[in-house]
Amino acid sequence: MIMQEKWDNIYSEKSGEPAPARVLAENAHLLPTSGAALDFACGLGANALFLARRGLNVTAWDISPVAIQGIMTRASAQGLAVRGEVRDVTLQPLPESAFDVIVVAHFLDRSLTAALAKALKPQGLLFYQTFSKSRVDDSGPRNPEFRLDDNELLRLFESLRVVVYREEGSIGDATQGFRNYALLVAQKR
Ligand SMILES: C[S@@+](CC[C@H](N)C(=O)[O-])C[C@H]1O[C@@H](n2cnc3c(N)ncnc32)[C@H](O)[C@@H]1O
Repeated sequence: MIMQEKWDNIYSEKSGEPAPARVLAENAHLLPTSGAALDFACGLGANALFLARRGLNVTAWDISPVAIQGIMTRASAQGLAVRGEVRDVTLQPLPESAFDVIVVAHFLDRSLTAALAKALKPQGLLFYQTFSKSRVDDSGPRNPEFRLDDNELLRLFESLRVVVYREEGSIGDATQGFRNYALLVAQKR
């Protein structure tokens, strides 16, 4: 099944608005009050809608037309300005120095990380959260290609200044904390 069809099928069966990623919700105080933001591989767009509510001018890209339709319907019902676009992010290059904020949640294509860093304006912020290989349950993708190695987000975005990094693995009481993921907030120098 091709990628677009797979995600269209998943989103056709979902209803309601998912919660924004913790990397964004728990670090929202770092956001600028205006500017251009990108929700990259946005899915149902919880992060895009969250950013729009904070006053940012939001672009949201995803390969799934069903997901983009869902975002646009929600954005218009809530009077929010989100520019949704069906886009295969592996085929269309990112513009350079275009965004004050980029959010990537639960998506990993290592070939795009250098372009993501370049797409930030100076002082722009990247909010990244995705699955880690180190985990305490079976949630998330089984294919290790789509999960991060220890400290990998730090390496992938080493050109940026680290603002927040969190990756807890299975240390301590694994019923608490931030498990199965790594998150990074980093700033373009
Ligand atoms: C696990 S979902 C995450 C969605 C959203 N970021 C979130 O956290 O809820 C992965 C998303 O990546 C999108 N995707 C996968 N390959 C893509 C591609 N080549 N171009 C654009 N979007 C893609 C899928 O359609 C899906 O919405």
